[in-house]
Parts: sequence; structure tokens; C-alpha cells
Amino acid sequence: MKKMLIVYYSWSNGNTAKIAAQLQRVAGTDMERIETLHPYEGRYDDVVAQGQREVNSGFMPEIKALPYDPADYDVIAVGTPTWWYTMAPAVKSFFADHDFSGKQVILFQTHGGWPGHTLKDMEKACRGASFGPSLAVQFDSTGGSKLVTAAQDIDDWIEEVKQCL
Ligand SMILES: Cc1cc2nc3c(=O)[nH]c(=O)nc-3n(C[C@H](O)[C@H](O)[C@H](O)COP(=O)(O)O)c2cc1C
Repeated sequence: MKKMLIVYYSWSNGNTAKIAAQLQRVAGTDMERIETLHPYEGRYDDVVAQGQREVNSGFMPEIKALPYDPADYDVIAVGTPTWWYTMAPAVKSFFADHDFSGKQVILFQTHGGWPGHTLKDMEKACRGASFGPSLAVQFDSTGGSKLVTAAQDIDDWIEEVKQCL
């Protein structure tokens, strides 16, 4: 059986954390959460505006050291909330810190109705990797935590991921 690591970032309501935890419950594997060294501060709208500036400038925040090394795993599942149609800057930092060549990468994103080009951008960020099944999960458009995507679609994706292991 292949070894999988789940890595995710989650800021607003834990939406991405929920999907990561669901995958971990079923596929039983190591999991870690990306955290920025300097936490985002202010109201939701302030962070939305800061996120826009960061995405537009390609900013990569410093992230805290993580407990597991992707180099030790065959399959790496990476999850991000959508920030301005792409991955959150902290996830961009994570990709820049590691070499994914020869790894199988499984990508998932959560969003509020505008998924953008997130999964494509994530694929580009891990050069030399092969890709397993990916998933975009929609939550409500107000930035809240009400699931819009059918729960069955998430279960089906987890089954597909298990087939990769
Ligand atoms: C800075 C920022 C930018 C966002 N940009 C988008 C976007 O481009 N498209 C979209 O559908 N949702 C966008 N959202 C909403 C989040 O992607 C969505 O609520 C996500 O599920 C939050 O996941 P989390 O709770 O794990 O942080 C944005 C939220 C924030 C904070």
C-alpha cells in the first residue's frame, strides 16, 4: 500500500479542514495543516482585500515548519480554500518549499461558487508530479460553511483516492 500525506490550509471557517478530515477518516493517513508565520488579522473583508493584493503580486507568506516531509510519501493530497480564483498564498509557499517530481499529487479546493483556475495553478506548481483525482467542493457564496456540493460527490472522490493507495 502506498503512503499518503494530507496537507491543507484553511482560514475562514474550516471548510477545507473538514474535507481534509473526512479524507483522513476514511483513508487513515498522516495529516498536517499549513499555518502562516504571521496570522492574518482584521475582519473578513480586510483579509479578502489583503488576499487580493497578495494573489495579484504573487506574494508567498512565510509558513511554519511542518511535522511531516512530503519526500517520505508516495502520494500527497493538498487542499486549499480558493482565494481570488486560485490557491491561498500560504499553499503557494508550501509548493515552493518542496520537490514533487515523481510523486502522485491529489488536489482539492473549497470555494463559494467561483472556483477559478485553482486546480490548474496547483498542478503547475508541482512540476514533475503525476496527478490523481481532484475535487472542487462548493460552500455557500457568503463565505460561510453550508455545503453546496452533494455529500455523495465527496464520498465518491474519497473512494477514488483510496483506489490510488
Ligand atoms: C481572501 C479570500 C478570497 C476568496 N476568494 C474566493 C474566490 O475567488 N472564489 C470563491 O468561490 N470563493 C472565494 N473565497 C471564499 C472561500 O474560498 C470559501 O469560503 C472557502 O470554502 C473557505 O475555506 P476555509 O474555511 O477552509 O478557509 C475567498 C475567501 C477569502 C478569505
